[in-house]
Order: sequence, then structure tokens, then C-alpha cells
Amino acid sequence: MATILLLLLFSAIFITEAQQDGQLVIRPGSLLTPTGTGGTKSSWLSHSGLYAFGFYKHGNSYAVGIFIAGIPQKTMVWTANRDGPPLPIDVKLNFTSDGRLILQSAQGSETTIASSPEAAAAASMLDSGNFVLYDPDNSTIWQSFDHPTDTFLPGQKLTTDQVLFSSRSDTDHSKGIFRLIMQQDGYLAMYPVGTELTLQYGYGGLGVPGEGTDVSLNFDTDGHLYLLNGTGIYIVNITRGSPTKGIIYRLTIDPDGILRHYSHNLDQNGDWKVTWSNPTDVCLPGGLCGFNGFCVLNDQDADCKCLPGFIPVKEDNWALGCERNFDSKSCKSNEVVSGYTMEVEPNIVWENANYSTQIYPTQEECGEACLRDCNCEAALYKHRECMKQRLPLRFGRRQQRDSTVALIKVGKSSHSTDPIVPKESNKEIRVDILIIGVSLIAFACIVLAVSGFVVYKYRVRANKNISNNEQVGLGEDVGPKSYTYAELEKVTDGFKEELGRGAFGIVYRGAIWNGEKMVAIKRLDKLLAEREREFQTEVKVIGRTHHKNLVWLLEYCHDGPSRLLVYDYMSNGSFADILFKPSKQRPSWDRRIEIARNIAKGILYLHEECEPQIIHCNIKPHNILMDENGCAKLADFGLAKLLKPDQTKTYTDIKGTKGYVTPEWHWNLLVTIKVDVYSFGIMLLEIICCRRNADFDLHEEEALLEEWAYNCFECGELGKLLNDEVVDKKQLERMVKLALWCILDEPSLRPSMKKVLHMLEGTVDIPIPPSPTSFLTAI
Ligand SMILES: *[C@@H]1O[C@H](CO)[C@@H](O)[C@H](O)[C@H]1NC(C)=O
Ligand SMILES: *[C@@H]1O[C@H](CO)[C@@H](O)[C@H](O)[C@H]1NC(C)=O
Ligand SMILES: *[C@@H]1O[C@H](CO)[C@@H](O)[C@H](O)[C@H]1NC(C)=O
Ligand SMILES: *[C@@H]1O[C@H](CO)[C@@H](O)[C@H](O)[C@H]1NC(C)=O
Ligand SMILES: *[C@@H]1O[C@H](CO)[C@@H](O)[C@H](O)[C@H]1NC(C)=O
Repeated sequence: MATILLLLLFSAIFITEAQQDGQLVIRPGSLLTPTGTGGTKSSWLSHSGLYAFGFYKHGNSYAVGIFIAGIPQKTMVWTANRDGPPLPIDVKLNFTSDGRLILQSAQGSETTIASSPEAAAAASMLDSGNFVLYDPDNSTIWQSFDHPTDTFLPGQKLTTDQVLFSSRSDTDHSKGIFRLIMQQDGYLAMYPVGTELTLQYGYGGLGVPGEGTDVSLNFDTDGHLYLLNGTGIYIVNITRGSPTKGIIYRLTIDPDGILRHYSHNLDQNGDWKVTWSNPTDVCLPGGLCGFNGFCVLNDQDADCKCLPGFIPVKEDNWALGCERNFDSKSCKSNEVVSGYTMEVEPNIVWENANYSTQIYPTQEECGEACLRDCNCEAALYKHRECMKQRLPLRFGRRQQRDSTVALIKVGKSSHSTDPIVPKESNKEIRVDILIIGVSLIAFACIVLAVSGFVVYKYRVRANKNISNNEQVGLGEDVGPKSYTYAELEKVTDGFKEELGRGAFGIVYRGAIWNGEKMVAIKRLDKLLAEREREFQTEVKVIGRTHHKNLVWLLEYCHDGPSRLLVYDYMSNGSFADILFKPSKQRPSWDRRIEIARNIAKGILYLHEECEPQIIHCNIKPHNILMDENGCAKLADFGLAKLLKPDQTKTYTDIKGTKGYVTPEWHWNLLVTIKVDVYSFGIMLLEIICCRRNADFDLHEEEALLEEWAYNCFECGELGKLLNDEVVDKKQLERMVKLALWCILDEPSLRPSMKKVLHMLEGTVDIPIPPSPTSFLTAI
């Protein structure tokens, strides 16, 4: 009742607005003011009240545009004159009687908001978010949908050569530094502002080659985003439509250059959710970190850093980039050489704006050449090509798996204003000195760390037990106790009962503590001589781990050539035995998810609570053991490191069956904790589907679980993965999405174990995972 009265009141006051065909029509003579005082409004609402056209506050000033008024987060979707000055409070938006939509300042100056070719007879804020001007015949003469800023709405169409520009920031809607273009070649792609539209600069491209000149980006009200070719044939479905009512969508090229598909449920008070984003590597948009800076992926967020010899121009504004932290002296032929060194940064690339390219057999010679060249400030060295560059260096980012080496000229006394005057010396030697220096420092760090560790341990022990007979060696202070081989031989009855054979050795059953405690004793394969010394240290680290989802190392034996580990006995066998049983005896879905959660907790403990951090390197259902209460515990952690030379063996062992081994092992890259995330992802798929990751008895397309799972996910047919088992669809989708994130080829894109656990627990949203191959094709 009240609303009806209010509506009546409104229509009485604003006679210039009339309702027509379910839309509010605005007639010439209407006026808006920023604060909506004196009988005017500050905006015109759409019929449903969802969208509004008018003034919105912008810091201490105002701007004109279209925003979503029907939700708590008044989200801007279009901005008029986005690069114009901010508007003062005494400005007016006048839909003049002669049919122009203009801004009038108090001083009388005018700015056109919508440059329609003829006078408008009416205007309307439509429920789609489109603001439209009509001529007297009621045909559209101007609409905001034809002039997008940074946001694309359902119903809108982006045709060839149309561009969306990102905003400068979330609060400043003027043009930012990235753009999205519907290209003539049929690709939808993004570029930093101020670059040519060439492969070198583009990122996040979507499309199909050879689809012609007339491809358009389309967006349906159910959130379905897709590319159509000239004859209206679907060529790429970017996002799927959702049948759920009451959800609104938008596609925005955000200030960080990422294109995001957002959804918002009108029935819930939540925030916008990102349902899809592109590209997934947030460091791909060039220029995020400004000149002479570079972008580093940090658990899926972008971090900016300065190149060596540079400091941020302003700590809180990376767009300004970095500047040199030393004076570059005037260059007089070869003299300069003495004032600088070349710093080497592997895995960093930037735009190759080389002014000269020469061939040198080594990177040192390339650095030397740059030092001798007054113009050269940095060089990229790749495949024996030395590409010299001048400042500024732009679009820097860390890129693993790239053989380019970045060399940057750095002042020798970076921090003092009067550089030391060094003797003329041979560069070859200098590089050597650098390497030796670095090695010395690294060695010193290790020594410090080790001695710190020893001292710390010693102190802890001394505090606990003053009468303890000190032995600073790593012999028998904390953690598991040491046994002799003979003792263990006795408790296992001469290694009689074999429990199993693993990657690291054979496991026997035994009983210690006067036969009261059942244990599993692992006799390790022969260690390599250089690993011997690590054995005890490593055992200490393993022995200190106490977590209910880790198998407890009770004792060990380091006696002559024998290396044995004594573990708590797990009476219920391995998880693999339970998981890969025939379907009737499978553990229930809830039970499986609980086990996955427990394992994730165990891994998280190894990654984040252990000092030094433990990388398991061998996570699979066979290494998960079940205790007498059915609690899952991770076994065999910490051993991969001990048996490092065997990793190659593990690699060849598993190669035939694919599986848990991550791509970085194949590429010989540094193994990080993300290998465990990968293996966990593969195992999660196995847990979901109760089958092995490779099963060549199955139909060809189903044989490799990760491929099949991705295909099922892409086609929206996740039910197929479970055969007849009925489970909660939403939960199933979450689990599959999480697993797909974990098994991405690029380690830095895989979530951390902490994130994985949050996702398993349902406390955070899981974005749509990218296709495993989507990073291989830039455009
Ligand atoms: C709107 O603009 C017209 C034409 O410039 C002007 O005559 C009129 O006074 C303006 N209306 C208001 C309320 O300022
Ligand atoms: C204006 O156009 C709409 C459809 O666009 C139509 O339904 C309506 O009748 C038209 N009104 C006038 C006055 O012509
Ligand atoms: C659109 O795709 C269809 C099917 O692939 C093809 O027959 C048609 O020629 C394409 N249209 C254009 C304009 O390329
Ligand atoms: C895209 O989605 C539409 C509608 O859901 C469907 O008809 C079409 O076959 C899909 N096309 C492709 C290429 O996946
Ligand atoms: C810059 O490097 C590229 C790639 O090696 C090369 O093709 C090009 O000729 C170089 N430009 C100059 C000016 O040396």
C-alpha cells in the first residue's frame, strides 16, 4: 500500500515521466542534480528499480553513469565522459526541451552526455541496464549499450572492432591501462593500452581460427557468454547459462586487466561472485607493475617487485613503476664499465624492445657487452642471442619454464651516492667473484641456519632437562629413539612377516615395548653414501611431526649399513585397498570426502607447520593408511628427500602409468610443495570416482581419469563420473572443480594446501578451473 502511494506521489510530482509498455519514459524538460534536492532527483530508475541512470558519488565529487541501484553494492556499469573532470555538486543534468542530454555547470558551460545525431523526444532507463534515447517516431537514436566502458551486460553485443577499456581503479572509472577487443580475425583478445594489436602484446585470447570477420560477443540473461560467427553459429561457449532465477550478471575488464564474469544473487545479500575469469595467470596483463617492475604470482595473486637496482617510485602505487636506486653517470665510452655490474635474473622476461642483437656463446659475454655499451641498460639472453635494451623496461613478469636470462646493469654502490672508484679489471673475473660471493653467502646462510637449529635445540633441551648429558650432535636428543639392528631383528621375529613393499623399501610387522605395541618396520633401500649424513637429520624432522593425520614415526635404526624406520602399526590397511574395491563395498561419498579432508590436513601440516618444510612427493592412496578407528593417516613423508637419487627411478616407474607425477618433474624443474597439490588433485579425482587414475580396461576416452573428468566437467555431465552413485550435485561439482585446479600444469596456478582445505570445507568459492591446456595458447 505504502509503495503504491509512493508511486502515485512520484508520478504526480514528475509529470515528465510516464509509464509506457512497462518502461519509464523520460521526457524533455527533465532534470537531475547530484544530491536530488529541490524537487529534482539524482537518478532515473529503470522500471524494476534495478538499474539507474544519473549521478553517483565519486569521492568528494560526482560522475554521471549507469549503476545497479537495486543491490547494496551500487555497482557502476557505464560511465559518461569517463575521462572528463569530476563533477562539482552544483552541476545539473538537463534533458532539454530541444532534445539534448547535457551537463550544465553553474558557470553555464555545457557537456554533451549522449551525442545522438538528432533531437531526442524521449529517454528511458531499461531494465536490461541499457539507457536509450528515442526520436519522435519512437525508434532508438542512441543507447549506452553501443558505447560500453568497462562492463558488458546481458543483452549487449560486442561486434567487430568494438572495445572495452578497463577502469583505472575500482573507484576511479576513467580509462585504465587494458582493453578488450572483438578483433576482425574473430578473436576476442585483450591488450595493454598503447600497444600494437600483435601476438606479442595480446593475452587471454578466445576464439577459433578462421571464423571470419564478423564474429560477435554475446551475453544472455541467464549468464551464457558466447561467440557467434557471421551467420549466427555458436563458435565458442565461454560460460554456460544457469537456469536459476534471480541472478544478475556482468562481464567486466577489471583494473588489473583480467576479464571477469560476475554473478549476483538478488535473493541473497552476498557480494558479487566471480563465476569465470580470463586469463587465470594474473601476471599475464602487461604493465600491471609499471616500468622496470615485474609481476610475480603469489598463490594466484599478482605481486609486484622491482628489478635489481630499482626501487618503487611510490610504494603504494605500482602503476608508477620503479626507478633506479643509483645515479647513472654520464657515459664516456668504456669508462663506465667500472661503475656497474650485471645482475642476472633467470625466469624474468619483459617486452623485447632491443635496439641491437648480437650472438654470444655465453651469458657472461652478453653481460660484458652490455657493460661496455653506454646505451645498454639491460639485456635478454636467449639461444645465444644477446638482445640489448634501454630503459624503461616494460611488461616485466616472472615466467617459469622460459630459457631467457635477464641481465640488468646495476650500479656497484647501489645505495651510496658516491660510487667507489674501482680499478679497471677483467669482467671475466668479476663474474667469477660474483658467483663465488653468492655461493659464499649461501653457504654462510646454511651454516647459520644449521647452527641456529642446533643451538635452538640445545637450548630447548637444556631448559627442559638440566641434568641431561649434553651431546650437541644430532644423535639422541629429541624425536624418535634409536634402536640397533639386532633389537629390531628381534622384535620382528627375524623380519618374518612382510606387510608390504613400497617405493622406499619393504615393510615388516613387529611388536615393541615388551610386545605391547604393534609396529610396522620399514627397511629402507640402500641409501646413497652422500645421503647418509642426512638420514639422522631427516629422521629428526619426521620424528618431530605429530599430527593425527600423519603416521607416527616411533623409532629408527641407524646401525652399520641398515636404515630402518619404526612406525605405528595401522591395522586397517591402505586407503587404496578400500577405495578401489568393487562398487558395492565402496566407502560412502561423505566418508570419502571426510578422508580427503583429513589427508589435506596432514599435507597442510607438512607444508606449513614443519620446520623445515616437508614435501611429501609421493602422495597416493597407497600411502594413506587407515588406523583401527578408520582414521586416515599419511605415511612415508620426508623420505623422498632422503632417497632423492631415486626420484628418477620413481619417475621411470610411474611414467608408464602416468598418474601422480607432476609435469614439473618431466621438465626437470625445481620441485616445490605444489607437487603435493598436484598429486592430491589426482587422488581427489580417484576418491570422487573410486577408480584408479589410469585404467586401460576402460573405454579409451575414460582411461585417463584427469582427461575424462575435465571432459565431463566441460560438457556439464559430471554424473557420468560416478556411474550409479547418487550424490549431491553441487558438492560433486565443487570437488571436481577443486581437483581440476590442483592438477594444472603450471605449479603457481595450483592453490596452496591451505586454500585446498578451505575449498574442501566449503568456506570459499571455487572458480571455474581453466582448461589444462589453455595456457599453452596465448591467443
Ligand atoms: C535546461 O537547459 C535549457 C536549455 O539550455 C534551459 O533553457 C533550461 O533553463 C535548463 N533547465 C534548468 C532547470 O536549468
Ligand atoms: C514505442 O516502441 C515500443 C516498442 O519498442 C512500442 O511497444 C510502443 O508502442 C511504441 N510507442 C509509441 C508511442 O510509438
Ligand atoms: C559460421 O559457421 C558455419 C558452420 O561452421 C558456417 O557454415 C558458416 O559459413 C559460418 N559463417 C561465416 C560468416 O563464416
Ligand atoms: C553452445 O551452447 C549452445 C546453447 O547452450 C548450444 O546450442 C551449442 O551447441 C553450444 N556450442 C558449442 C560450440 O559448444
Ligand atoms: C631484436 O630481437 C629480435 C629477436 O631476436 C630480432 O629479430 C630483431 O632483429 C632484433 N632487433 C634489432 C634492432 O636488433
